[in-house]
Amino acid sequence: MKKPFAAAADENKEAIAALLLTELKDNRDLLEIGSGTGQHAVYFSKLMPHLTWHCSDQSHQIAGIQLWLESAGLKNTAAVFVLDVSQDWPQQSYDAAYAANIAHIMHWSQIEDLFLGLSTVLKQGACFYLYGPFSFDGQFSSQSNHDFDHFLRQQDPDSGLRDKNNLDELALKNGLIAATSWALPANNHILSWKKT
Ligand SMILES: C[S@@+](CC[C@H](N)C(=O)[O-])C[C@H]1O[C@@H](n2cnc3c(N)ncnc32)[C@H](O)[C@@H]1O
Repeated sequence: MKKPFAAAADENKEAIAALLLTELKDNRDLLEIGSGTGQHAVYFSKLMPHLTWHCSDQSHQIAGIQLWLESAGLKNTAAVFVLDVSQDWPQQSYDAAYAANIAHIMHWSQIEDLFLGLSTVLKQGACFYLYGPFSFDGQFSSQSNHDFDHFLRQQDPDSGLRDKNNLDELALKNGLIAATSWALPANNHILSWKKT
């Protein structure tokens, strides 16, 4: 099996890293949800040796992530494990959580499960960082995001770009308050929420 590669994971990795480097400077254990190929895990954990990066994803992604982790040979990446947000969550608690490009793929019920799970694994004061395209106050920030949302909903009516207001409301129900929103290139953002 060849290492899988996702072009979307390569896009903006420098901009995401610049932000995470500041945000995660005092954190030790980070849970990544929906690690995909494992490209982000390898790229970010190499830049943050003080942090242990815990990859997770659905079972069909695990072998590819393992290939990326093994070939990088980093000391600060933990063994990848299966985590479907609608199933069992780990018993461990984390100083931070990160996910990229998952909210527009997941159904809303899965996003509900995501925030419920995060409320059980994040330590008090820990943040969840979510990268991807979003809408704000019901508005798309670009025509390309509008078109992407349309494309996604044609493939799967339960998918599509999520609105920050809806995510903030859901987060709050699960004890996470909206923290910051950073605009990144190509009409993407990182949103963060802090566990109270
Ligand atoms: C578009 S990919 C993004 C992968 C990677 N984070 C990236 O940015 O390249 C969406 C990811 O969400 C994961 N995913 C979808 N549904 C999930 C669920 N119910 N629980 C956990 N992960 C899920 C998929 O397996 C996939 O890895």
